[in-house]
Amino acid sequence: MRVVLIAGARPNFVKIAPLRDALETRASVEPVIVHTGQHYDDIMSAAFFRELSIPAADFNLGVGSASHAIQTAKIMQSFDRFLDDHPTDLVAVVGDVNSTVACSLTAVKRRIPVAHVEAGLRSFDWSMPEEINRVVTDAVSSLLFTPSRDADENLLKEGRPREAIHFVGNVMVDTLLKFRERALANEELLFNLNLTPREYAVLTLHRPANVDERGAFEGILGALEETAEELPIVYPMHPRSVKTLEAVGLGDRARSIEGLRLTPPMGYLDFIMLEANARMVMTDSGGVQEETTVLGVPCLTLRPNTERPVTVTEGTNRVVGTDREAIVSAAREVLAREETPSAEAPELWDGRAAERIARILEEFAA
Ligand code: UD1
Ligand code: UDP
Repeated sequence: MRVVLIAGARPNFVKIAPLRDALETRASVEPVIVHTGQHYDDIMSAAFFRELSIPAADFNLGVGSASHAIQTAKIMQSFDRFLDDHPTDLVAVVGDVNSTVACSLTAVKRRIPVAHVEAGLRSFDWSMPEEINRVVTDAVSSLLFTPSRDADENLLKEGRPREAIHFVGNVMVDTLLKFRERALANEELLFNLNLTPREYAVLTLHRPANVDERGAFEGILGALEETAEELPIVYPMHPRSVKTLEAVGLGDRARSIEGLRLTPPMGYLDFIMLEANARMVMTDSGGVQEETTVLGVPCLTLRPNTERPVTVTEGTNRVVGTDREAIVSAAREVLAREETPSAEAPELWDGRAAERIARILEEFAA
């Protein structure tokens, strides 16, 4: 069975790494990697292949950046042409980015079954492009691999058949557990950044609702001005927010905050080292909410909701929104706490999710 693994954006690479490894060892499965080209800067894409030892993509569709409709359409068009020339038995997609939904739609219209890894997550917030991608991808997928039991419930409520749903755990955590030790060995990173473990915070931001509009970005910057008086905040900037910070006219203000360190995006191993040693993380990233839960680092989610509720009920995450006062007071609470939260991982976040998926795909092939 030839399984085409789709990857397009930064979090996808972290998720396909263990899947490709697990499929590679199965005699009845031939994994092929198709990179859509949604992300293309070295530090957003190729660096992840190198650090996570993912072999270079077998094919790169090279679509690049564009509006949602144009990017989705371009991926569909190129992937359709790829499928013309490369007989494929199953398409496996991960996460919730435009590449995920585009390749799912393309495959299912050709009657190629789709497997969705990270199925069933719901923020119930239709203003998020990712929520649309998640719902549509799940609706057309034959195999739904979920990271948590809430995801199973969401899919059942949407009428998906129980036998299509497989609770397997979290592939992003597979990668984290595999590479954690290697990442933590790089003590020089903190030294070079002049940081002391547990005496700094980390920030990541890239949701359009936070960085594309001046209002929300301004509220967050206001909170950072106050919080950065208490401890340094390292902000590896996603290319989207590099662009929008200037576009909404907040670049000078951000650069003037003493204690806020703006850096380029980081490679995976450096970022895990930074995350693991932080006193707290502030983020709007999905993957970072999950990683901080496993690492036992307090996380403040700068969004009104999360599609990953187990990171709140079982992990270290707190959803605080983007109101300046709410962020400042949540940060103060974290900083006032002596002990760090316990780092018990949610059910099946044990480093073996990809193995479970590979086993089920093998049965599917038989
Ligand atoms: C995308 C995903 C988002 C995911 C995020 C992970 C969608 C709708 N969004 O958001 O769900 O959380 O990736 O990081 O699929 N750019 C570069 N270099 C790159 C890639 C992007 O400069 O290598 C810039 C371009 O100006 C581009 C902008 O970033 O227009 C946004 O990129 P895009 O892939 O459209 O969305 P993200 O915000 O990255
Ligand atoms: N990450 C990284 N470098 C950074 C910021 C994030 O390697 O500068 C990693 C992070 O550890 C996680 C993944 O990127 O594994 C999360 O991707 P992102 O936040 O872009 O997307 P999301 O998870 O929100 O879809």
